[in-house]
Amino acid sequence: MTHFLSIDDVSDLPALIADARRLKADPRAEHDRGRGKTLINVFFNPSLRTRLSTEVAGRNLGMEVITMDAGGGWAIEFADGTVMNAGTAEHIREAAGVLSQYADVLAVRSFPGLEDREADYADRVMQAFVRYASVPVISLESAIRHPLQSLADCITIDERKKTARPKVVLTWAPHPRKLPQAVANSFAEWMLAYGAELTIVQPPGYELAEAFTQGATITHDQDAALAGADFVYAKNWSSYRNYGQHEADQHTDWQITPEKMALTADGYFLHCLPVRRNVVVADAVLDGDRSLVLEQARNRVFAAQAVLRELLGELNG
Ligand code: CP
Repeated sequence: MTHFLSIDDVSDLPALIADARRLKADPRAEHDRGRGKTLINVFFNPSLRTRLSTEVAGRNLGMEVITMDAGGGWAIEFADGTVMNAGTAEHIREAAGVLSQYADVLAVRSFPGLEDREADYADRVMQAFVRYASVPVISLESAIRHPLQSLADCITIDERKKTARPKVVLTWAPHPRKLPQAVANSFAEWMLAYGAELTIVQPPGYELAEAFTQGATITHDQDAALAGADFVYAKNWSSYRNYGQHEADQHTDWQITPEKMALTADGYFLHCLPVRRNVVVADAVLDGDRSLVLEQARNRVFAAQAVLRELLGELNG
């Protein structure tokens, strides 16, 4: 593993999940592995889970961990050849180069603008860090993917599944704000790589980019999709087709309720968090005994730890 940006960086997903589960059983078992190594986390956007779980993961491996809120820092220029006589103060070439002097591993979060699909799907910020950093780069959620979340979701499903090929439903859910497609894109490609029987259901116009969903069943009928599901993963995302479009007051009946969960095969409920109660999902589902949201959040530590462990293995030779 050179960097960790998507499922394409994982050569053996079952082995990575097994590593994470082994680390979960004894989180500090490899406390010497990261001794003398520094992880720098750079956040251009807010976070609760990703920030803290990645910090805990690094510390469990004995790493020094520094987290930087970059949103309020020097405005970074990403375009090459620009005359920097306006708002940007530092070019990504220097920023990534300098961070690489202090870190053995860099981790970056940068959300999309949701205005320009071509620019967002070029994943410009993450790709620029990869290009100009001289150390491994971990995505803490990019414009189009959230791979550490997806690995945690794989771990959570792996722990609870009762069949080799569980029926997993990714369902669009309502939300008052327009949100990226990153979590949904990533979940789809990881679940397909994991070997789940994946159905993705959304209102017309909210279909995800085909590059992420090939191999899944795509439908607009939420009740039919939920029938017999082992796992229900709810998430809002704005439109890919009409890029960034979002209708706050529409499709409120897509909220996950106890009645909807009753259609499943006593299925589990998953959400990456943060979640809007009684908009995305009803209290009774979120607080019920089939909700796995806290276990998912817990597994964020071991997802990050398994990835850091593998990168440290490469660094330590
Ligand atoms: N699920 C997730 O990434 O949460 P945060 O945005 O709080 O990091």
